[in-house]
Amino acid sequence: MKKVILAYSGGLDTTCCIPWLKERGYDVVCFSANLGSEFSPQDLHKRAKKTGASKIYVLDLQKEFAKDYILPALKAGAIYEDKYVLSTALGRPLIAKHLVDVARKEKASFVAHGCTAKGNDQVRIDVAVKMLNPKLKIIAPLREWELTSRESEIEYAKNKRLPIKTTKEKIYSIDKNIWGVSIEAGILEDLENEPKEDPYIFTQSLAKAPNKAESVTIEFTSGVPVALNNKKMDFLSMIEKLNKIGGKHCIGRSDLVEDRTVGIKSREVYEAPAAWILIKAHKELESVVLDKDVIYFKEIVALRYSQLLYQGLWFSKLKMSLDSFVNSTQKPVTGKITLKLYKGNILISKRCSKNSLYRKELATYGAKDEFNRDDAKGFIDIFAMPYAQRR
Ligand code: ARG
Repeated sequence: MKKVILAYSGGLDTTCCIPWLKERGYDVVCFSANLGSEFSPQDLHKRAKKTGASKIYVLDLQKEFAKDYILPALKAGAIYEDKYVLSTALGRPLIAKHLVDVARKEKASFVAHGCTAKGNDQVRIDVAVKMLNPKLKIIAPLREWELTSRESEIEYAKNKRLPIKTTKEKIYSIDKNIWGVSIEAGILEDLENEPKEDPYIFTQSLAKAPNKAESVTIEFTSGVPVALNNKKMDFLSMIEKLNKIGGKHCIGRSDLVEDRTVGIKSREVYEAPAAWILIKAHKELESVVLDKDVIYFKEIVALRYSQLLYQGLWFSKLKMSLDSFVNSTQKPVTGKITLKLYKGNILISKRCSKNSLYRKELATYGAKDEFNRDDAKGFIDIFAMPYAQRR
């Protein structure tokens, strides 16, 4: 029998994939990566078996995800089109890597996933699988099957008595991991509809957010977050903690009309409290310890880096080279940043670093000014010369 390893989330799409693949003669082995999803391993085991899988691997990859995928993106300052911290995009190469590993272990020559034919995730998983093991054959049932809408998938699942949780009324497609939640479909497809409160997982509403600001202090060592509120903590625990604190203050919601790799503009709503807090804190610290040439160039790198991640080119040579550049800038990024969280806002409160390039004696307007005002005129004369020439 042909064996296929299915990247299985337990959601509607991958649930429908199991009987569909079996009907086509495949032995279906599920592989489920826990990056902070909603289903417990026990639940996944039960549901996959009930749906007809012969075996399921559930791997808790949260630590690896935090350390090897989220952290490089944080250091690089990767944000797509100003509003998306790339939470879903960052998870895909990791899932693909383990999918390929399980296929090797199981001696399977097929892998499958439940990504839609219009989305970015099919690109990300397919490209990563092709880069890691070009011999594997990839099946994407959603690119082939007759179930062309979520409604028809729900109908199919009901007829086959598959264990699903989606209802027609609540028809969002939600992807959640520790770095953020991506929400699309349903009423969000109409750009004139404001998102309702129901799909959010991490954040409570702005109305319910406390009327009092809360401070958080994040300490970094060479670009790596190491302590929260003066308590040493591993990166994963810090993300979890900040999702709770930030979620309470309605931090990190965004609503973006974005450019998909397949050319479509689509609307997605995101929430990523920890991600935004950490990204802001990291950037604040960089503004204090990095010189302007590095800062400007790093911004260019961040833009390109975010596009590479979005397009699924995680394992590309360029991405690796950009990582080398980013890492080479992070040595002095050590210090503490205090932010205030208040009703959806992240406000800077304190900056402290032994590597600070800020010199009060130069910046001050007070009596202890050491800046040589006489130098300014000559500098400006020469600086302005090419612009001030008469034509
Ligand atoms: N638009 C995001 C991306 O391409 C998220 C895609 C998945 N979204 C979802 N709601 N399932 O990375």
